[in-house]
Amino acid sequence: MTKKITKQEAAELLERYNKDAFHLRHAAIVAGVMRYFAGALGYGEEADFWELVGLLHDLDFELYPEEHCMKVQEIMRKEGLEERLIHAAASHGYALTVDIEPEHEMEKILYATDELTGLIGAVALMRPSKSVQDLEVKSVRKKYKTASFAAGCSRDVIERGAQMLGWELDELIEKTILAMRTCEQAD
Ligand SMILES: [Fe+2]
Repeated sequence: MTKKITKQEAAELLERYNKDAFHLRHAAIVAGVMRYFAGALGYGEEADFWELVGLLHDLDFELYPEEHCMKVQEIMRKEGLEERLIHAAASHGYALTVDIEPEHEMEKILYATDELTGLIGAVALMRPSKSVQDLEVKSVRKKYKTASFAAGCSRDVIERGAQMLGWELDELIEKTILAMRTCEQAD
């Protein structure tokens, strides 16, 4: 039996496995970005589901970094969650830790934006406003080229994601900035 999980249940599940504020913040950002893209790409009726995928995609990362995207499948199955949610979460480790390829457009968006939101967030923090509201693509591109800047945000993954979507890198960056503007939290 699989069950549909509510946003409240997903938040509780997330907080059972993630205590680190950085991870919780990342989950919230990716959830908001996924919700935005669902609407922007014509999947408005699925926006709640896209948001859940964003919220739970890194569920296993804090406790099982060595088994990232593998352990999450086990945890989600134990929780009785839907297979499409499990596939979506696991597929963001494609070509890294798992051989589960992003298939649905939602999965490609997750793949392309997961690392990129980290890089864009890091660029925003360098600005006086510390915000993405006035952030432009060219500022991101400048930092993007510097491999040592936000080095943990894999340019390979971002570019592979853009390729999966058939988007130019600038287009992906621009749309992801717009997405992040809709869900920026005041710190
Ligand atoms: Fe992530």
